Order: sequence, then C-alpha cells, then structure tokens
Amino acid sequence: MRMVDIIAKKRDGHELTTAEIDFFIKGYTAGTIPDYQASALAMAIYFKDMTDRERADLTMAMVNSGETIDLSAIKGIKVDKHSTGGVGDTTTLVLAPLVAALDIPVAKMSGRGLGHTGGTTDKLDSIAGFQTEITKEDFIRLVNDDKVAVIGQTGNLTPADKKLYALRDVTGTVNSIPLIASSIMSKKIAAGSDAIVLDVKTGAGAFMKTIDEAKQLANAMVKIGNNVGRRTMAIISDMSQPLGFAIGNALEVKEAIDTLKGKGPADLHELVLTLGSQMVVLANGADTLEEARARLEEVMYNGKAIEKFKVMLKNQGGDASVVDQPEKLPEAKFKIELPALQAGYISEIVADEIGIAAMQLGAGRATKEDSIDVSVGLMLHKKVGDRVEQGESLLTIHSNREDIDAIKQKLYDNIKISDQAEKLQLIYSVITE
Ligand code: URA
Ligand code: CA
Repeated sequence: MRMVDIIAKKRDGHELTTAEIDFFIKGYTAGTIPDYQASALAMAIYFKDMTDRERADLTMAMVNSGETIDLSAIKGIKVDKHSTGGVGDTTTLVLAPLVAALDIPVAKMSGRGLGHTGGTTDKLDSIAGFQTEITKEDFIRLVNDDKVAVIGQTGNLTPADKKLYALRDVTGTVNSIPLIASSIMSKKIAAGSDAIVLDVKTGAGAFMKTIDEAKQLANAMVKIGNNVGRRTMAIISDMSQPLGFAIGNALEVKEAIDTLKGKGPADLHELVLTLGSQMVVLANGADTLEEARARLEEVMYNGKAIEKFKVMLKNQGGDASVVDQPEKLPEAKFKIELPALQAGYISEIVADEIGIAAMQLGAGRATKEDSIDVSVGLMLHKKVGDRVEQGESLLTIHSNREDIDAIKQKLYDNIKISDQAEKLQLIYSVITE
C-alpha cells in the first residue's frame, strides 16, 4: 500500500477502505508517513468529506494507536460527558456527584484548561488537599465503592490524534466535521466509557459558531458513537455568553456547590438537568428523559447530591468542609465592581473575550506551562436580557492585583448594553440516538 495512492483516492472523492485508513494512522503514528503526506490527506478529507463508515474507522484507528483505559472492573454502565469547551462551564463538577447520587457509576477522567476555557481538574485544585493524581486501582475502587471519582489525564491515549490535531492546527484543516468528530470521539472511547453524552456548544465562546455547524458536528459524533458500539446522545447549547455567573476556579466551585443544592443559576441548573437526564437514561437509570430528570431533581433537593460531593472530596483527600463553609475557599485580595456606564438591557456578553479577561487575571493558562491562580475570576451580576441601571455593577472582578485597567476596558468592550434585548435560548437541540 502506498500513501500517495490513498491521498489521490480521497482527492478524487472516493471512499477509503478500513485497511487504507489503518495504514495511514499506523504509519503516521510510527513516523513512517511524513507530515507532508498526512497534511495532504487531511486537506483532501477537508474538501471531500468522509462517509459514516470511514468516520467510524478513522475513530477506531486513532483509539487503537495508543493505550486505552479498561474500566471493565467497574460494575454498571459507565457514562462519560464531554463538552466541546465553554467559559465558566461548571457542569462536570456538578454532574459527577449528582448522577453518582443515583448510584450510577461516574468514572471521570478530566483535563486542565487552556486558553479561554477552563478545566475541571483546575477547578478542583481550589479545594485544599484534593488529589486527582490517583492510581488507576484507587480510581476503580472508589467508583465501585462510592460511585464517583475524578482522575487526571493518564496514559498515552490516542497519540495519532495528538499528532494529527497539531498538524491540522498549522495546515488549515481543523475545521472539518469528520476530523473534529473522530478526534473528540477517539479520546472519549479510549478513556473507556460505555456510553457518551456530548454538549456541543455554539456561539462566540465555542468552536462551532453557528447552530447549523454545531448540529452537523453533534450528529456526526452521535453516529460515530453508535456505529462503534457506544450509545451516544448530544445536546446543542448556547455558549455566546458565559454559563452561570462564576468564571474562575474557586468561584466556580462555590457555584457548583450552590447548584448541587438546587440553588444554582438558572442556566447552569437547566443544563445540568438536561445533560444529567441523558446520562441517566444511557446508564439505564430511567426509561425516559422526564423520569431521569425527576430522579435528579429529587437528589438535588433532598440533599443526597451535595452529600455525594462531600464523599467525593473526602475520598480524594479534599477538605469537604468547604461545602458548608465556602468562605474557606481561596479568595482574591481585591473585589472590584464594574459599574454600568449607561442604563438599558444587556444585549451581549461575548463569552470567549470574557474568558480571556478571566485568564488575564490569572484564572487560566495562555500556554500549557503557565500556572494559574485559583482565587481570581469574575462574578457576573447580569446576563443577556437583564435590565441594568447606570452605575449598577455589571460584575465583580476578583483580582490579586489592582492595576487592571486594560482588563476593565476589555470587559466594557465585550458587555454590550442596548435599549432592548431578549433573554437567550440555552438549549437549541436535544439529539437522542
Ligand atoms: N477538539 C478536539 O479534541 N479535536 C478537534 O479536532 C477539535 C476540537
Ligand atoms: Ca459558571
């Protein structure tokens, strides 16, 4: 088999065989196929697309390019949730204990944040003592005993995807549905889950800027999952403004605690129940989404969900007393209000720019090597559609330095006030199998 023939075949719009896709992924991972040939094929795929069969084969070839996590020692159906990346997105932190409170196993592998989006592991770092670097044996034991554990990224998962994603990034081939869908799904499948719930974001803070693009991506991923034997569902949700009120690690932990008690911001509360219902149905914990939602609401309001969060913290060395005394979480030195310059209605809070502002305060990383300050971030007081009076605070800046004029300006530039504005729709679409 020759790589040049595979490139030409895709260039001419033909369907590649399973063997051809395997040959490419194996050779590229091993280094016997050079970057220039891989980038030519990526560009051919960008223009000629892939069939459902090719997409499933590409996903599994990438899964098999490295280690995979074996969660078979955990009893029950393990459902994972993946978000395509958001600003102030605290859902994972809420969902893990919430779903586990129904005795459904949640074995969560989580990463660090980069750029304007945060990572669950960073958020958990704001709880004194909490360890995500645990052994695989401990991870499995904790999920079997208490139904929930969070582990940092381990193992050499999907090396083909790492290499190909980096190459796509510099060859103008990131924005291809078959390539994005197989990239995301390969990582989820390698991480060992039996079923997958996807939160595909759309809007300024998201990868997919339009609802139509997001739908195409979600449908592609749901098809891949179901074609390779992993039940998969998805939703399309808004990420044009940040989710909830808190953006920043310790602030988001506090918001997660409120949400687990049923007192969270309306949008985060709704998103958690929507995604959680899909997770519960996929884990056979309910027959319908409605029944699943009722079960989740019950543990939210009877205290079982927040108790499960305490257990999760204690099990991994964390100080669970922050749940009842959130003032124990790291706090920034300065709390600076941002007064509205005019009265009106909030018409836009540009998610990605607000995320970057939080990152510049120290809440996120610009490069993988940066360290973060878990205490800093932003607390919004208004969301799109809300009325604001002149001089009323739009948000509180939690900062450890006072020289933040440039950040204030960035916030003003990205929070628009108009004569009228509607509240935004949160969930655009729910895609079941
Ligand atoms: N996220 C991924 O993991 N892969 C892509 O290709 C795009 C976004
Ligand atoms: Ca939030």
